[in-house]
Amino acid sequence: MYRIAWLPGDGIGIDVMNAARAVLDALKLDAQYMPADIGWEFWCNEGDALPQRTIDLLRASHCAFFGAITSKPKEEADAELAPHLRDKGFVYRSPIVRLRQLFDLYMNLRPCKAYAGNPLNYRDDINLVIFRENTEGLYAGVEFHPVPENVRRALEESSGAMRAFKAIASDDIAITARIITRRGAERIVRRAFEYAQKNNYPTVTLVEKPNVLRETSGLMTRVARQVARAFPRIELWEANIDAMMMWLLKNPQQYGILVTSNLFGDVVSDLCAQLVGGLGFAASGNIGDQFAVFEPTHGSAPKYAGQNKVNPLATILAAKLMLDWLGETEKATRLENAIATVIAEGRVRTYDLGGTSTTMEMAEAVARKL
Ligand code: NAI
Ligand code: MG
Repeated sequence: MYRIAWLPGDGIGIDVMNAARAVLDALKLDAQYMPADIGWEFWCNEGDALPQRTIDLLRASHCAFFGAITSKPKEEADAELAPHLRDKGFVYRSPIVRLRQLFDLYMNLRPCKAYAGNPLNYRDDINLVIFRENTEGLYAGVEFHPVPENVRRALEESSGAMRAFKAIASDDIAITARIITRRGAERIVRRAFEYAQKNNYPTVTLVEKPNVLRETSGLMTRVARQVARAFPRIELWEANIDAMMMWLLKNPQQYGILVTSNLFGDVVSDLCAQLVGGLGFAASGNIGDQFAVFEPTHGSAPKYAGQNKVNPLATILAAKLMLDWLGETEKATRLENAIATVIAEGRVRTYDLGGTSTTMEMAEAVARKL
């Protein structure tokens, strides 16, 4: 029996998780769903949006299924903290970023497939899968403002380009480091190629900018070329991130697997999600070697919270990704077929698809097809 940590979180996270649960129950997955606390309420009342008891429960589970959380800017976060916790040094940290770091969930898997009959498809022949590095790059968290004197001095001594900023006061300059490691590059590219091989994709496209980011994108490129040699039947394409934004709008059907670093992956995957229906369809897996967290990519959409209104398919597609990862291939395929049939029939549609069906009606329609 699988032990699945169940983290609805805030707002519509709760609505869409209920919907996903109805579908998983219809599939009769042999699983124990273990509810755990995450989200805004726990920040306000405990000073921690991801309490230690939740981390302990995650460590005792096979994987986690996550809805969405609310997060707010610093001033509001401080103001909403319970009075007895104020001025005690609590700092809000994104629970999802922490989960990625704690469990080394280095791969962010974002399939973007146009299901036939989805009125929101940009084209009907799009089938992209994005592999975004999830732990380093520009989101590694190495940032300075003001920039400490010793950091500036070290940079000025070792980089001619840094000397151009010499006259600027430390308070007037901010620096974010883009960190790419050989190990980080190697493992994300290798996972992309393995996936391409297993699923018969003829190409893997590396999306970087090595002509300008000569060292970081350069390392990604060198590593990708090396990894590609082990997969002679799959062609490595290389595209610059800026040009790729044009190509993806012009000819998205020509691409299959995309692999890229953290920030570029964040950008590319939102664009690709919109090509196949937007937030109501965008599912993702945060995957490491030992553990994984599956989620819809949308947030808690407070204005729709508790209204049983939003589209649950992103979350149900995340359940499909979880079944794949667990090795439940037959159930994953059955679930995807059921989703595809409901979309193709077009009888049950939530508001984003121009319909009036509820979240639960959509989930029940999928469950019936199972
Ligand atoms: P959001 O993704 O929550 O919602 C933006 C808009 O997209 C909604 O108002 C709605 O019109 C539409 N939408 C979202 N999910 C949908 C669905 N399943 N079906 C149909 N339409 C849907 O983003 P927003 O409003 O920027 O953020 C709201 C809160 O969520 C914030 O506190 C933010 O920090 C948080 N957030 C959390 C994320 C997470 O938990 N992974 C990701 C993004 C935002
Ligand atoms: Mg994003």
